[in-house]
Amino acid sequence: MGSGQRSSASAIATRQHTYHHHNHCFSREGSLADVPKDLLGEIKKLEQHLSIDTKKLKEITNHFVAELEKGLTVEGGSIPMNPTWVMEYPDGYETGTYLALDMGGTNLRVCEITLTDTKSEFDIIQSKYRMPEELKTGESEELWDYIADCLQQFLDTHHGDLAPGTMIPLGFTFSYPATQNYIDEGTLQRWTKGFDIDGVEGHNIVPMLESALKAKDVPIRVSAVINDTTGTLIASAYTDPTVKIGCIFGTGCNAAYMENCGSIPKLAHLNLPADCPMAINCEWGAFDNEHVILPRTPYDIIIDKDSPRPGQQAFEKMIAGLYLGEIFRLIMVDLHDNKDIHIFEGQDIKKLRKAYTLDASFLSAIEDDPFENLQETADLFSDKLGIATTRPELELIRRAAELIGTRAARLSACGVAAICKKKNFQPCHVGADGSVFNKYPHFKARGAQALREILDWPVKKNAKEEDPVEILAAEDGSGVGAALIAALTLKRVQAGNVAGILHPENFK
Ligand code: BGC
Repeated sequence: MGSGQRSSASAIATRQHTYHHHNHCFSREGSLADVPKDLLGEIKKLEQHLSIDTKKLKEITNHFVAELEKGLTVEGGSIPMNPTWVMEYPDGYETGTYLALDMGGTNLRVCEITLTDTKSEFDIIQSKYRMPEELKTGESEELWDYIADCLQQFLDTHHGDLAPGTMIPLGFTFSYPATQNYIDEGTLQRWTKGFDIDGVEGHNIVPMLESALKAKDVPIRVSAVINDTTGTLIASAYTDPTVKIGCIFGTGCNAAYMENCGSIPKLAHLNLPADCPMAINCEWGAFDNEHVILPRTPYDIIIDKDSPRPGQQAFEKMIAGLYLGEIFRLIMVDLHDNKDIHIFEGQDIKKLRKAYTLDASFLSAIEDDPFENLQETADLFSDKLGIATTRPELELIRRAAELIGTRAARLSACGVAAICKKKNFQPCHVGADGSVFNKYPHFKARGAQALREILDWPVKKNAKEEDPVEILAAEDGSGVGAALIAALTLKRVQAGNVAGILHPENFK
């Protein structure tokens, strides 16, 4: 709902965002003067629950560093720290045409990428397919069948006849935690992002997809299983060699970086050279599953309890796009049900009572409302939820959204800071992708502010000066990144290095 649609609204003052330090980055705190005492008290409580000060951010970051280390040991920890068998950075001169499949949380995308002879350039053709909601909690066969159909459609549209016996290699971006003893296999550790499909956890996904392809005579085989963060790392490093971390802040959240094999005790038995690089898919969504450091609210506890995998992805559930709207919804319902506070009083809130009806874009729209009287927020509540709002209620709504969005950005920064501290990555660039990073208002600025606090950077001399760690919009990791990983793997096989490749013959 753009403000341009409502020309009469232009008479209403818009509000300039003011930049405050610490927790108050981009907020309307100043507009609370006329809010009655009971609501003001609730706003203060929310602030206490959801604000995270510098000291706490630092404590979280230090614990995070220790947990990253622990994940690399033989005993392991909460954070899986999965070796991915991506063992070098691209140099920009990779070439070839590759097929990539991205099974994200929301969409399924098939693309064909041609890495051209010109340094760091590529062409891409792609088709997007919606991931039907019912597939996420359906049967395993239906999932693989649907994916095979999409791939078949793509080949039908974009490929002429193939010579008999030709098998097209596919880079499969499967963005869930997977154990990989080889790059061309992946055993799902557990579903995340609300997926709950029986019979996949604990199994190698490659034969499942390949048998669905075979049943339809689709001439494709899987040559690499890739996490979206690893794809993002490699795709971003392709165009910007100072990129050292790839992050996703979307439906889920996670990061990947390059480790040295010598610092990965759980791979010691393979006797890989100590200085040999190995991309690690951290799976940091699992940080603090044992609940020792993150300041969880009662709402976070409900989200976890009612999710398909309670006890898993503690960090992700406070940050990722899938959960932001739900945290907000739980707060609103709780306030309405508390009879001492008069919010949405006497109204039927049945639409608001439905779990997961509000997604992160709802919260984005609230934070983006440019009007002093929060008219767009009022319209959202009435159109989407059938709830009429008073001005003080709107102020509370806006403040709640700001607090949830700010907490997500500040906690995200702890993960980035932890990898930078562990690896001494200052200065560096971080390539980031995902709907929250790209679309959620102020996420980037709030994250940057938190990094500054955690890593004790001095105040900038001028606005143009780069921060020692800059989180920037990434190249398309699941497409270009997957193609590059396929190209790098092929190059490695041709050079005789077949470490971590189950079927090197497929790369000939
Ligand atoms: C998954 C990761 C993924 C992240 C972002 C998480 O839920 O476990 O594998 O990288 O979401 O898509």
